[in-house]
Amino acid sequence: MDEILKLRNIHKSFGPVKVLEGIDFSIERGEVKALLGANGAGKSTLIKIVGGVHSPTDGEMFLNGEPYGVKNENDAKKKGISIIYQELSLIPSMTVIDNIFLGREFVKDGFLNRKQMNIEYGKICEEFEFDIDADTIVSDLSIAKQQMVEIMKAISYNADLIIMDEPTTSLTNGEKEGLFKIIQKLKGLHKSIIYISHMLEEIFKVCDSAAIMRNGIMVGSYKIQELTKSKIAELMTGNLENGSIEKKDWCYVDARSASALETVHMTGRKVKDINFQVRKGEVVGLAGLVGSKRTEIINLIYGVDQMTEGSIRMNGKEVKIRSPKEAIANKIGFIPEDRKNLGLILDQEIYKNASAVQLRKCRKHGFLSKEKEVDFAKEGIQRLAIKVNSPEQQVKELSGGNQQKVVVSKWLNQDLDLIIYDEPTKGIDIGAKEDIFQTVKDFAQKGIGVIFISSDLEEVVRVSDRILVVRNGAIAGSLTAAEASVQSIMNIIFDV
Ligand SMILES: Nc1ncnc2c1ncn2[C@@H]1O[C@H](COP(=O)(O)OP(=O)(O)OP(=O)(O)O)[C@@H](O)[C@H]1O
Ligand SMILES: [Mg+2]
Repeated sequence: MDEILKLRNIHKSFGPVKVLEGIDFSIERGEVKALLGANGAGKSTLIKIVGGVHSPTDGEMFLNGEPYGVKNENDAKKKGISIIYQELSLIPSMTVIDNIFLGREFVKDGFLNRKQMNIEYGKICEEFEFDIDADTIVSDLSIAKQQMVEIMKAISYNADLIIMDEPTTSLTNGEKEGLFKIIQKLKGLHKSIIYISHMLEEIFKVCDSAAIMRNGIMVGSYKIQELTKSKIAELMTGNLENGSIEKKDWCYVDARSASALETVHMTGRKVKDINFQVRKGEVVGLAGLVGSKRTEIINLIYGVDQMTEGSIRMNGKEVKIRSPKEAIANKIGFIPEDRKNLGLILDQEIYKNASAVQLRKCRKHGFLSKEKEVDFAKEGIQRLAIKVNSPEQQVKELSGGNQQKVVVSKWLNQDLDLIIYDEPTKGIDIGAKEDIFQTVKDFAQKGIGVIFISSDLEEVVRVSDRILVVRNGAIAGSLTAAEASVQSIMNIIFDV
């Protein structure tokens, strides 16, 4: 046995809350091992202990057979462990190359040796087939490209153990394939990889084995051949029923339903002449590849970007929406893809985040009532089974998937005419996806129009009454629920 990392009886508590309870884990050289578990199971916490972000409350760690202690993130890197964290860690205002070499810049005679940095950057790009311009400012890149830079950065340390915490959540299919090739290559170089993802197809594609956690406990470690999707779901949740995507058995719209939203020749910087309607109670799916400009269409409706031509009608009347604030005033709700920047204030309590768009309802005798805010948050926590210690906990302390659920919970019970979901299941475990779909159904049942965007086409088919396929900033085709399938959507996307 050639174990690179071994963890024995790891415990971690945050104050009184036990998050990890006696975890055993090991990975060998040249092995690609998945770390699986539902939202809040403790995956990220475990790897943060390995990476020196958190220290364990108890337990032992061994690296290459020697006791392994780690002081901080840099120390972990020095010892050959490189981690891609779930929360991207790039500095947005800096260039790609400066981010990659941050803290280990090449210096010559007291000056930055840009030439050497560029040569090294070129080598990484060539070896792993990246093609991102070194001098681009990170904030100018799409989230997908930022995620690629994060991956490049982790690889560039030439570590022996690379840990990836949900590395593909924003990647395009092509980029995902690129990453899988990189993983194969690293494996060939006898490197070890711990791979965290909720997309089980990926696990079967790239992993040799999987360790499965449930509620802070290690359920077991399995060879990939011993597992199936439903077996994983069962081990993760302890429940046989969970994890299968059910068929949609509801519809709250017909040809007589009034219009909730209509776009008329809507045109912006990146999209052209968009015409579509969402009726009350209707779920309209927007399908398309990452980069097809679905989010741009949404940004125009929600007032994030400005239209250059065309107009929007809400309930049959033309409205001008120049900012998200005006969108909310027009009874439009929005669950953004970029939850960290647009959806949440991480340093604030859950209840403050949850009530942010409902403040009017949370007043008592004219004043904001904390009690009402907390009550409102509690309802969301219950409906979406959000794993929290208390509504007064800060959002940044929640697991990634549970943060996403808080974004969705903000809009529950809100008086809306339209709600937009942009990649709502990103980072959500397979069991909890049903809770998100249930909120879509609840909105539709109340007569609210829904726009639903997801890169997972099965999901779009699963919830939509009608699907619009977006290609290159225009609507390339439309499918009824009866016509919709992953195949029929792909046919329009690829124009076959
Ligand atoms: N700094 C912290 N303070 C208090 N509790 C925390 C802190 N960090 C994590 N937790 C709690 O630890 C538990 C495990 O979180 P963790 O982020 O490890 O889950 P995860 O398995 O990575 O989930 P996900 O799939 O949603 O990313 C959660 O209940 C979370 O709220
Ligand atoms: Mg996590």
